[in-house]
Amino acid sequence: MALIILAACNQPGNSQPALVQLDPARIGHYGFGSVAKADEIAGWNIDIRPDGKGLPEGQGSVEDGEWIYEAQCAECHGSFGEGVGRFPVLAGGMDSLRDFRPTKTIGSYWPYTSTLYDYIYRAMPFTQPQSLSVDETYAVTAYVLYLNDLVGDDFELNQHNLANIPLPNRAGFTRDPRPDVANIRCMENCRDPAKIKILSETLPSVQQDYTSGIEPASTKANAGQSIYTQACKLCHESGLAGAPVHGEKDQWETRIAQGLDKLVSRAITGFTGDSGVMPPKGGFTQLSDEEIRLAVTYMVESVP
Ligand code: HEC
Ligand code: HEC
Repeated sequence: MALIILAACNQPGNSQPALVQLDPARIGHYGFGSVAKADEIAGWNIDIRPDGKGLPEGQGSVEDGEWIYEAQCAECHGSFGEGVGRFPVLAGGMDSLRDFRPTKTIGSYWPYTSTLYDYIYRAMPFTQPQSLSVDETYAVTAYVLYLNDLVGDDFELNQHNLANIPLPNRAGFTRDPRPDVANIRCMENCRDPAKIKILSETLPSVQQDYTSGIEPASTKANAGQSIYTQACKLCHESGLAGAPVHGEKDQWETRIAQGLDKLVSRAITGFTGDSGVMPPKGGFTQLSDEEIRLAVTYMVESVP
């Protein structure tokens, strides 16, 4: 039996009630598809959280993992996790994150062991994702940890100890400091969106002016900040190699007195002075002269 409902549309200018015909068994649905069964949901619900939540019951040893790894992973990732050809390197690269070309591996870069289990279970081996059993995944995860010198050769991994294996670079991850990602949804007394100005959108990060009352830095300085972060910060933030420290008045005053053009041209061509060597464009020769000008503008405007 079908049910006829009279629904008044409250759109302005529409005073006609609409006729809607609904199957009573399917009220609340659009009349197609079916409700997912618990085991269907379980097939998709396989994410593992950093604290181990979501891990299935099971275990696997480094010893068992070695066989699986050699048979199913080594052809691409290499017997020692060194990566064959352009396939990802899984082990080593410790302390390389500050290098010009860091080697990012589970041991050198990843923050959580849970991601390793999750990734392998979900996506590997590349040509047959989700073909590994739970125990096989524990075993091969244990073996990849072993390749990174994070566990011993007699180690057995399971749902209880996995989250307790800290990865060395855990502390290298911090919360995203940009103001727009941490915002809480505003429910009352909100800012008028029309008053939020987009200051720049051509450069990698879209900078928005969220300040009220505070004078924003110039548009150029904002654009220069992202270039500074990529190419100049390494030396100028800490004073590495004798670089004048960002925002330190006494280290910049006499330099700024030379005028912006002089500073920009020295930053472009490189400059050796009393305190050290400023390489041409900080070593990032792919940057345009205009981008260097933006970065220098930002640096100069940061000096109080
Ligand atoms: C046919 C080649 C191939 C095989 C075999 C293979 N992988 Fe991969 N693996 C890849 C590729 C390609 C990626 C990168 C995928 C991407 O970035 O989308 C990857 C990524 C990974 C990553 C993430 C690396 C990172 O730093 O992002 C891990 C961990 C991993 N594989 C583990 C394994 C394990 C364990 C096995 C064996 C069970 C395995 N892989 C088998 C090709 C392979
Ligand atoms: C490898 C380290 C390093 C990097 C990277 C670097 N600088 Fe420098 N920079 C220096 C050093 C060292 C000096 C000081 C040279 C001196 O006065 O002896 C300097 C000085 C400067 C000066 C002052 C020049 C003057 O006339 O006093 C400017 C401007 C400057 N850098 C801009 C930049 C910009 C812009 C970038 C990024 C595109 C950058 N630097 C990246 C090391 C670096």
